[in-house]
Amino acid sequence: MSKSKIELSGTFTLGGRTVKRLGYGAMQLAGPGVFGPPKDHGAALSVLREAVASGVDHIDTSDFYGPHITNRLIREALAPYPRDLVIVTKIGARRGEDGSWLPAFSPQELTQAVHDNLRNLGLEVLDVVNLRIMFSAHGPVEGSIEAPLTALAELQRKGLVRHIGLSNVTPTQIAEARRITPIVCVQNQYNLVHRTDDALVDALARDGIAYVPFFPLGGFNPLQSSTLSKVAARLGATPLQTALAWLLHRSPNILVIPGTSSVAHLRENLAAAELTLPDDALRELNSIG
Ligand SMILES: NC(=O)c1ccc[n+]([C@@H]2O[C@H](COP(=O)([O-])OP(=O)(O)OC[C@H]3O[C@@H](n4cnc5c(N)ncnc54)[C@H](OP(=O)(O)O)[C@@H]3O)[C@@H](O)[C@H]2O)c1
Repeated sequence: MSKSKIELSGTFTLGGRTVKRLGYGAMQLAGPGVFGPPKDHGAALSVLREAVASGVDHIDTSDFYGPHITNRLIREALAPYPRDLVIVTKIGARRGEDGSWLPAFSPQELTQAVHDNLRNLGLEVLDVVNLRIMFSAHGPVEGSIEAPLTALAELQRKGLVRHIGLSNVTPTQIAEARRITPIVCVQNQYNLVHRTDDALVDALARDGIAYVPFFPLGGFNPLQSSTLSKVAARLGATPLQTALAWLLHRSPNILVIPGTSSVAHLRENLAAAELTLPDDALRELNSIG
């Protein structure tokens, strides 16, 4: 896919930089369960290089993918990094020896996580760091995030982090966070069939804050819907391309980061930038959620 095609997704400001709204999420590059090395190291590098060659300038990652493995793959494939590439990482969790996802919120753990990201990505400063709230691994749960956010803001003041975002958060937590420090993006679960954050997407759009849905394709088990398949077939597109085009249409502040470990799937996903959804298709897709 040529660079100009992916530009059809449009652009948005993320941490003071302009990025295309169609990006790439690197989580799927680690081994099964996002734990351990990939099955095919060379294939993982190819996906990253193909993404950037196709014009992707926003990559989402974390040092707890693998752990450490995804960031090291990004560095091996892409460093020295193109000037226009924005790498967004996240901290706030760690992996147990069995691959479990555990909270890691203490100032010491957050500081360690920032340094791990810097070292494994080969960077001197992180563009954007999302604080991933882990009161529950499965969805946002209310509770003050002041203590970990204050610790992250301190790392920002020290110059290790340019911009701060939040992940797995409620509107109340976002409001609390914005009283402490500027927030440039929010990363919560959202897709065609999971629209709990509908009002939040619109509120953040009004404030110029990026909304970056995780599991844009439904996550480990990509989403399926007979309506989606029917609309996609009519448009001559795949269901997952149609789901991505719906997200891009949904709101101008949505940045999509579909994840894949396959170059073929990456190409399919990036081609969603070229898909326009006519009104009748939108009406049918909107009726799914
Ligand atoms: N903040 C958080 O808590 C959080 C949580 C989860 C994810 N994330 C971020 O969000 C990004 C996206 O989420 P995700 O990767 O978990 O889920 P996703 O993008 O919704 O879907 C990924 C799944 O879809 C498959 N897939 C991708 N493209 C496909 C295609 N064209 N045809 C068929 N299958 C396809 C992938 O398998 P293949 O590898 O076989 O293509 C993988 O199983 C992640 O990479 C990560 O950066 C953040």
